[in-house]
Amino acid sequence: MENKESFVIEGLAGKKRLKGTVKVNGAKNAALKAMAAAVLFDGPVCLENVPETDDIDTLSKILAKLGTKIGRKGKTLTVDAGALDSTSVDSELAGNMRASVVLTGPLLSRFKEASFPAPGGCVIGTRPIDLFIAGYRKMGAVAALDDEDRLYKIGAPGGLKGAGIFFDKVSVGGTETLMMAAVLAAGRTVLKNCAMEPEIVSLAGWLNACGAKIKGAGTPTIEIEGTAGKLLSPKKPYVTIPDRIEAGSFLILGALCAEELAIEDCEPGHLESTIGLLRDSGVPIETGSSVIRIKGNSKPASSFKPVLDLRTHEYPGFPTDLQPVMVTYLTQVSGESKVFETIYDGRFKYVEDLKKLGASIAVMNPREIEIKGPTPLAVLPGDGELKAHDIRAGFAVTLAALAGKGTFTVGNVNLIDRGYERLEERLIPLGAQIKRVVL
Ligand code: UD1
Repeated sequence: MENKESFVIEGLAGKKRLKGTVKVNGAKNAALKAMAAAVLFDGPVCLENVPETDDIDTLSKILAKLGTKIGRKGKTLTVDAGALDSTSVDSELAGNMRASVVLTGPLLSRFKEASFPAPGGCVIGTRPIDLFIAGYRKMGAVAALDDEDRLYKIGAPGGLKGAGIFFDKVSVGGTETLMMAAVLAAGRTVLKNCAMEPEIVSLAGWLNACGAKIKGAGTPTIEIEGTAGKLLSPKKPYVTIPDRIEAGSFLILGALCAEELAIEDCEPGHLESTIGLLRDSGVPIETGSSVIRIKGNSKPASSFKPVLDLRTHEYPGFPTDLQPVMVTYLTQVSGESKVFETIYDGRFKYVEDLKKLGASIAVMNPREIEIKGPTPLAVLPGDGELKAHDIRAGFAVTLAALAGKGTFTVGNVNLIDRGYERLEERLIPLGAQIKRVVL
């Protein structure tokens, strides 16, 4: 169902008029996993710096349907899985957010069973769960897809056993989920070819502080000594790390639209590849311990250099989640850029929207595009509104509208809300003319 809320944006016509400070929220992709991990505990856990985004609400609803009690006070969530009495993840809610599959790890590890809806198509390509199922099987579980209700039913009557698991593909969710499943298993699990994202390191650090024995998070090999069913104790709250994708989105926005911008409460070390690419392209960037500053960025974007061969990559490479936002940037620099999407096979849908505004982008195949810049971005007569196709594509077209000339409408703002908390309220103080309207 399409949401009726839209952004109406008055473009800056390439002028770098935004100015000020924007604060980065906690990472929803980190908080979501900590919420799932609450199932591993013998008491209520407290999660701090949790952003107020729709994905967090959706996972809260899924957990509540399983019998978990959830409370929120500002940015602090309390999750009490003590009375959890179901292990079947709600199909409809999970359909809106594939990340909820991470719940199967903690559920299976604690209750010896879990069920999860078979994933369908997704707007950014096929997102299978084969790595999860293969991992559970290695740990002694039986998993079968029930054709009637389209649920994967996974059971490990004797409890999960430690195992050696090699991931055929590097997967963030796969690494986090199998790591959580192994925490309460019997014996030692060794995960190889793991993802190394900061969110994984942060989750492991917190679980270790509460009684888990995880070594190697942040490297390709993670070893977990299972507790054989003994639940973890909530010894300290989970403090959500800064959202590196949000920080990167604001940084690219600043590169195009601001002469001076301070991005605060972030972790510049988590964005090395993005900062490096932008600096090489000509954007003046300074970093401090928790701040990234754009300073003296007065030259027009057309004075910036293109990126000849940009490839998305697992961390610490250039993140796929910033690919759409970076492509908007590349439409405004001088020269030809090539972007290769290595993680997903359907992440260029927003390109049609950018082309509608005048961008020159050729889609070579589902994973590769070529961009020729700079081209002015403007609403062409009769072309209707732009659409957020997913969270990040939504930011990318919003940025295109801010950098462009004229009045733009961006529909499906509900998708942007999944990942960016009240985006317009954070951009208005910088000088952006952006309004949320119900059309
Ligand atoms: C997480 C992030 C998402 C980001 C992605 C890659 C969350 C909630 N989301 O998603 O924003 O874009 O990392 O950085 O943290 N795959 C399989 N089989 C599986 C699992 C995954 O083939 O069982 C594939 C996926 O289709 C994709 C690739 O592996 O092509 C990487 O996906 P993965 O790292 O698992 O992404 P998520 O954890 O879902």
